[in-house]
Amino acid sequence: MNTSTPFPPSFLWGGATAANQVEGAYAEGGKGLSVQDVMPQGIVGPRTAAPTPDNLKLEAVDFYHRYAEDIALFAKMGFRVYRFSIAWSRIFPLGDESEPNEEGLAFYDRVLDELEKHGIEPLVTISHYETPLHLAETYDGWTDRRLIGFYENYARTLFERYGSRVRYWLTFNEINSLLHAPFMSGGINTPKEELSDAQLYQAMHHELVASARATRIAHEIAPNAQIGCMVLSMPTYPLTPSPADALAVMDFDHSNLVYGDVHTRGAYPGYFLRTLGEKGIELEITDEDREDLTHTVDFVSFSYYMSVAQTADPEKKVAGAGNIMGGVPNPTLPASEWGWQIDPVGLRLVLNQFWDRWQKPLFIVENGLGAKDELVEVDGVKTVIDDYRIAYLNDHLVQVGEAIADGVEVLGYTSWGCIDIVSASTAQLSKRYGFIYVDRNDDGSGTLERFEKKSFGWYAEVIRTNGASLTR
Ligand code: BG6
Repeated sequence: MNTSTPFPPSFLWGGATAANQVEGAYAEGGKGLSVQDVMPQGIVGPRTAAPTPDNLKLEAVDFYHRYAEDIALFAKMGFRVYRFSIAWSRIFPLGDESEPNEEGLAFYDRVLDELEKHGIEPLVTISHYETPLHLAETYDGWTDRRLIGFYENYARTLFERYGSRVRYWLTFNEINSLLHAPFMSGGINTPKEELSDAQLYQAMHHELVASARATRIAHEIAPNAQIGCMVLSMPTYPLTPSPADALAVMDFDHSNLVYGDVHTRGAYPGYFLRTLGEKGIELEITDEDREDLTHTVDFVSFSYYMSVAQTADPEKKVAGAGNIMGGVPNPTLPASEWGWQIDPVGLRLVLNQFWDRWQKPLFIVENGLGAKDELVEVDGVKTVIDDYRIAYLNDHLVQVGEAIADGVEVLGYTSWGCIDIVSASTAQLSKRYGFIYVDRNDDGSGTLERFEKKSFGWYAEVIRTNGASLTR
């Protein structure tokens, strides 16, 4: 094994999950309903009026009761960081109360106790696609300015309670998905087809203000806290070398980069103002909003699963599978079983792009391969021989090393769904990302027992050697 490694000694290796995909216990501990509790088919199907038994997220993988066992397994792999989200509706069941639910707060105290016991650094997502349902149904989610105040109250409660124990915070998961998945991402109840661009951009503005205000408050309450934004990254290639396709790439990039631009620079960039002007939209922006926006983040975090290509040719604009952001498949790349194109080099490219543009430390907080796994028995032990997952992660991590060698400052890497969880887009359990197999199936059957996959030992070795064991 080559013992040299580009990863700094402080590199935070770990894994990531979100409350709604892992916890279950959807109506325990005083928790209110969230938008996820009425999304039994993820974003691919319609929402329901109330929770239905076919919604796997209601029980998910029962982390709510098994967190100690699960965190012990993360510790066995050597995790230095664990990213999880706090379920907003555990803390404020309706979302608009002034006083929090103590039982909900106490649950995350216990999770933090367990992490501390194992020396694992927490990385907390404040809002991960789980807006309280009441805020969606009563206020139409983030289209309403009052959401800023409700989020402020929620974030302040978290900083006051956990600010001395949690260093790394993320304000909104994949904030740039809002325009594409308004109900899941923004708790916006009005069907997408009925929403005007003006409503969507106003909702985006409200989230950006809330994020900046939370950053300011965190810095006041918890001076050691590091606040990050979180964006869905989607490196983009022109389908052909034509200038028209290159311009299509620029426009698509701008539509995603605007979120990071505002979070790191504190104001809207010119290209975005041009878009608003051309659409005839005048955002309602108060003086207080402008002041809030100047409170910029300490680091930028992002998810990375795939890249796309862009074209200016309307006839070639055929969307790729599983991609809510738009773009067309790249003919040079293979794809996962769910049609997500696999492109490790794209990760190096996006790390360089974000670093060159924002000069803020970067944190890769989601990356991984959703795949069908088969539980087998080897020497009497149940496991999954997931060489495909090992290959995917290895190749992506090699590219992270390349970016670090390029001079990019990378704080850490949390592999998505480090334990099998319910998928966000399709709400399936069979789309597995974990190092830990959970015995639960798409029809809800299974014992919920946990088993270590082959990738479990592989990742433990990557962490132990600080990346030197990766195959280049
Ligand atoms: C990201 C989300 O978009 O992708 C996660 O932040 C999600 O919540 C992940 O689970 C993978 O997507 P999916 O649909 O395979 O679960």
